[in-house]
Amino acid sequence: MLSVRNLHVKIDELSILKGVDLDVADGESLVILGGSGTGKSVLLKSILGLIPKQRGTVTINGVDIDNVTKDEREKVLSRVGMLFQGGALFDSLTIWENIAFGLIHGQGMDPGAAQKIAFDVMQQVDLERRTAFLHPDSLSGGMRKRVGLARALASKPKIIFFDEPTTGLDPITSNIVNGLIVRTVKCSEIGAITITHDLDSLRQIADRVAFLFDGKIIWTGSVQGMDNTENPYIRQFIDAKTTGPLTDRNAR
Ligand SMILES: Nc1ncnc2c1ncn2[C@@H]1O[C@H](COP(=O)(O)OP(=O)(O)OP(=O)(O)O)[C@@H](O)[C@H]1O
Ligand SMILES: [Mg+2]
Repeated sequence: MLSVRNLHVKIDELSILKGVDLDVADGESLVILGGSGTGKSVLLKSILGLIPKQRGTVTINGVDIDNVTKDEREKVLSRVGMLFQGGALFDSLTIWENIAFGLIHGQGMDPGAAQKIAFDVMQQVDLERRTAFLHPDSLSGGMRKRVGLARALASKPKIIFFDEPTTGLDPITSNIVNGLIVRTVKCSEIGAITITHDLDSLRQIADRVAFLFDGKIIWTGSVQGMDNTENPYIRQFIDAKTTGPLTDRNAR
């Protein structure tokens, strides 16, 4: 469904990604772990073409997105949903307009039909109907997160990226969001990449885990494999130790 090979990304002369290889199978839920600032968000944005890459290939549903026409690339990418870490909502639009934005402006859908879909996905993520006509600045952080999620789901994606979907949410709302991710991914053929620091969430949603460090995926395996691994990088992260190879600059 998604294949990334040898992805290199530099921002302001700083190498962030140094040869990332990644695969997501049909309907698979992959969770990416890694320390803060290691380039997890950059990875998702560069797959979407929002941050340019220096080298590497991205293949989505068999289409090498750098070797097709702009129209074809946009068509493939329009079926990739993204929940941005910061929400990335348009402050000047109402909630339903934010959710329906891609349907109306990307797919050219009639606003009435798009509004109906927006209301449906709002229900899926437990957003009350009354919020539909508010603007993002009058919503709480958790509600904005759900708007981002609703927008990612609205276009009926084939693959969906969740960048820290539960960060900043209360435990109950987190579980609702985790349940929603599981439902979205496990009950359909949708593939997913989720970035999270939330190990409870990971245990609920991951089919497979990948660990990003120093610009590369240095480990991948099952949740059980993660729990049992002796890999010192993964152990330090999972056990939240303040000393170890992740924090030892000489290890890079
Ligand atoms: N648009 C940008 N301009 C300049 N630097 C950027 C930009 N986006 C990301 N970076 C830099 O790239 C590095 C990786 O950032 P990224 O946001 O991908 O980290 P992350 O792994 O998602 O961290 P976190 O877990 O804190 O969200 C950081 O050093 C960041 O400052
Ligand atoms: Mg991030």
